[in-house]
Amino acid sequence: MINSSKVNKILFGGDYNPEQWSEDIWEEDVRLLKLSGVDTVTLNVFNWAGLQSAETTYHFEKLDKIMNLVTLNGLKVCLATSTAAHPAWMAKKYPDILHTDFHGMKHAFGGRHNSCPNSPAYRKYSVLLAAKLAERYKSYDNIVAWHISNEYGSECYCENCEKAFRIWLEAKYITIDELNRVWNTSFWGHTFYAWDEIVLPNLLSEHFLGPQDRTMFQGISLDYRRFNSDCLLEAYRAEYRAVKAITPDIPVTTNFMEFYKILDYRKWAEYLDFISWDSYPSNNHSTAQIALSHDLMRGLKGGQPFALMEQSPSVSNWLPYNALKRPGVMRLWSYLAVAHGSDTIMFFQMRRSIGACEKFHGAVIDHAGHGDTRVFREVAALGEELKLIGGRTLGSRMQAKVGILFDWDNWWALEYSAGPSSDLRYHDEVLNYYTGLHDQNIAVDIIGVNDDLSKYDVVITPVLYMCKTGYDDKIREFVKAGGTFITTFFSGIVNEHDLVVTGGYPGKLRDIMGIWVEEIDALPPDTANSFALYGREYPARLLCDIMHLEGAIALSCYETDFYRDTPVVTRNIFGRGTAYYVGTRSDRGFYKDFLKHICEEKGIAPVMVTPSEVEAVRRIGEEKSYTFLLNHSNENKTVVMDDSCTDLLTGTLYQKGQETEMMPKGVMIMEK
Ligand code: GLA
Ligand code: ZN
Repeated sequence: MINSSKVNKILFGGDYNPEQWSEDIWEEDVRLLKLSGVDTVTLNVFNWAGLQSAETTYHFEKLDKIMNLVTLNGLKVCLATSTAAHPAWMAKKYPDILHTDFHGMKHAFGGRHNSCPNSPAYRKYSVLLAAKLAERYKSYDNIVAWHISNEYGSECYCENCEKAFRIWLEAKYITIDELNRVWNTSFWGHTFYAWDEIVLPNLLSEHFLGPQDRTMFQGISLDYRRFNSDCLLEAYRAEYRAVKAITPDIPVTTNFMEFYKILDYRKWAEYLDFISWDSYPSNNHSTAQIALSHDLMRGLKGGQPFALMEQSPSVSNWLPYNALKRPGVMRLWSYLAVAHGSDTIMFFQMRRSIGACEKFHGAVIDHAGHGDTRVFREVAALGEELKLIGGRTLGSRMQAKVGILFDWDNWWALEYSAGPSSDLRYHDEVLNYYTGLHDQNIAVDIIGVNDDLSKYDVVITPVLYMCKTGYDDKIREFVKAGGTFITTFFSGIVNEHDLVVTGGYPGKLRDIMGIWVEEIDALPPDTANSFALYGREYPARLLCDIMHLEGAIALSCYETDFYRDTPVVTRNIFGRGTAYYVGTRSDRGFYKDFLKHICEEKGIAPVMVTPSEVEAVRRIGEEKSYTFLLNHSNENKTVVMDDSCTDLLTGTLYQKGQETEMMPKGVMIMEK
């Protein structure tokens, strides 16, 4: 992960922007940060304009002083390259650096994430800066990681990008005939005869203005998404190469943002030495939703621990209502991250700025300027605990027998398609299945289409609308060999070009599932069908697949409407395995019951049986395992130990079967 030779505990700290402050504040900052147990600072995140005032004029003196100050004080550094916001002079001199948005508007200087990834000026100067930073600071052995740019994620529709798009397409499709075929351009007379007839798909061309960014041509819009993600990746990789050439031993990352639609993180992950991400749950996020994002990040590099690069110590500033993290919640969510695979707990930010749009964003050091605040005390208490835990949990991994697929191409294609329901969201459906497992402490890996399925007993692919060529074979092999496969309504519909697989839904999955879906009914939000299973009643919402059995058996049928008594949940024995099809969206109770049944059938046990709202997650190290117990509720909860163990946070020994009371928002880390 980060760098085992330099890191012997969970790194604790975060974004520190001393360049926003006069120097007399710095010493006090460092004193307070050390007092709070902070051992790592992320420096230089938005400092390009401060470092470079003209083409060849660089000013590193201030950063030198900051580097020396934190180094002398024994702090580790995550050093950023500053390239997420270009300087104003650069935009004036090289307007090609300014991006053009989805509406076709070319932006002026301002904001951040404001550079066109294909701008020659951006490419040249970002890489140069990264190289200069590496050269200047290569001898600091407290640099634990390079932090390239920050939260990549813009879209650009400028002329440079349009030209680059055509080149990208030509490399992918070779002939214009092939492009016409895969984009189905005979629809609405879109046939292209030359590459330069192709324009970028945005609001001026193929897109509707509406609640979703739907498109008239999925083929071109899908390729644009892939292209834009690739362009930003190229910009990242260029900086990666620049720093690696000079400091080959310093690991490199860039900070991701949970389920971020613009970038195919699965593809990006290959080019990061370790995954890092920024967790900013909104007020309405469920615990499962936060946990799911952590599991996504852990899954991006095959289960390798990741870094929680940012979270707010308390409040964020960009929601309509920025609720404080209640006492204990920052600690609880920090351990939630560690439980799900993080080896760091980092914050945005160390000191609260006095001006511009983040002045009300939480910080370890508040505007009060001292450490006598609730937030500071909570941070400092956590800092103390992390010293106790030391390096014990570092590098340990989770062992999951259930894999849930999440695929960016499927996400893009599914939500670009007009019909059958504008309420259908890929992440919602993945979260439904994930929550069903999370509710009962079953460990889950979030996997991609290239991941090996053989290590799982159960694989779930919610709304696998796009089944890429060959993925059906992978599933077929998995099930034949004895695996349990679950997929849902609206699956197997299209191939990787968003072209429908004809012959009946769910396309290439049909033989595996033993069903044929003839029609798909969309239910408006306030309506539901219903079905019964295991002696209980469940709602059928959103979409109802109307299907015929072709070898599968019906576990349950719809209860109303013209398709009453037709199958809704089916099971097919295929080879040595079993394939379940859930033809509709149901409720939390259904997912929990259904998945419980399947896990029992497969002998997959919960990490631990706990009272409701007490989560149990296990990381397994080389010698010991660590079971994190997290009381997300506002009540005391009684847990019964499933084995003898020691709580790392208190040193208390517990015997098997012993009961203990957990405080509201309480955490225990049971080592055994
Ligand atoms: C992001 C950024 C930070 C800061 C925070 C505020 O995560 O990376 O620079 O803007 O948001 O929440
Ligand atoms: Zn551009």
